Amino acid sequence: MKIKKLYWSASAIWYIEDDSLFINGVKYPDDIKELFPKFYFMTAKGSCITEILENYRDRDTNAVIMFIEKLKGEKILVNSLDDVNILFSSQNRIYKDMDNSGDAVKASPKEREKFTQSALRRKVADSLFPVELEDIPAGDLINRKSVRNFDSEKKISFHQISSVLSAVREYENKKYLYPSGGGLYPVDIYVFIKENRVENLPQGLYLFIPYENKLAVVDIPEGDFREAHYFSNRDIHEGSAFSVYLVYNAQYSMPKYDGLGYYLGIADGGIISQALTVKAFSEEIGSCIIGEMNFDAVAGYFHLSPMQKYLHCIEFGIEKKGL
Ligand SMILES: Cc1cc2nc3c(=O)[nH]c(=O)nc-3n(C[C@H](O)[C@H](O)[C@H](O)COP(=O)(O)O)c2cc1C
Repeated sequence: MKIKKLYWSASAIWYIEDDSLFINGVKYPDDIKELFPKFYFMTAKGSCITEILENYRDRDTNAVIMFIEKLKGEKILVNSLDDVNILFSSQNRIYKDMDNSGDAVKASPKEREKFTQSALRRKVADSLFPVELEDIPAGDLINRKSVRNFDSEKKISFHQISSVLSAVREYENKKYLYPSGGGLYPVDIYVFIKENRVENLPQGLYLFIPYENKLAVVDIPEGDFREAHYFSNRDIHEGSAFSVYLVYNAQYSMPKYDGLGYYLGIADGGIISQALTVKAFSEEIGSCIIGEMNFDAVAGYFHLSPMQKYLHCIEFGIEKKGL
């Protein structure tokens, strides 16, 4: 399904300062400035290209088309849902106005460590007389941890991968082992199998079909997705035996929940991640959730519709011991 209208992304901002036009902080020449604010009003409500050009008949059509293409490339003009990172980026400037400690936290590992400790010991309640609860032992889950060093010599058995994915499959009577907002289960689960790393499964990108408990090939990428990952996550991806990519499918959620459906889908992504990683732990498979990557660099392999939005991924493999 293709959306014909172009929309000004809810996260993109424009303003006039010192008589110049700025879009997301970038200065534009005067001939582009003259298109505003009409250009913004048209695209904020959604307009197709012909409608936009019709409104600028007195302008150089090629220049207007080039401007539109540039904004499309930067995802300022969109014809699909906003990516998760773009969707929430609108909150950055408002948060920074309340608390600008972020630059220091991001710049130094020492500051990050201090920040983590302060997060873990933040004051969560003012009560003077909190009631102490029973001390319940954690059991074997105390040994759960994120694994970032995988043994690339070790293969995952077909039983092990079947077992991990059983945590998110459908059982009889449309029964799932995890809850989902509205019972819609709108997160699609893609599985990337590395070459010679999983028994009986050739290298490739597969889509998990939860109601048939099957993996169907979507594409066969050459090599892995290392370069699409941020520097500190590259070795984790390279070493893993298989990766799971969670993709929100708005088509099966937003008709019922509108924009809130996107949030519910993200919440489902968290629940799925917990289900998969805990199941993997019970199968002695290590895992690490990866919160951010340059998904655009590999999106072509997934053949997504404009209704599908990548959320995050998880790397799985046998832990390399003795490091
Ligand atoms: C949403 C989410 C995103 C994460 N992203 C990353 C990541 O990009 N890279 C990484 O090495 N670990 C990532 N992690 C793992 C956390 O760093 C890890 O869970 C946390 O430090 C606690 O350590 P533990 O899981 O070993 O107990 C992520 C975890 C979650 C839940």
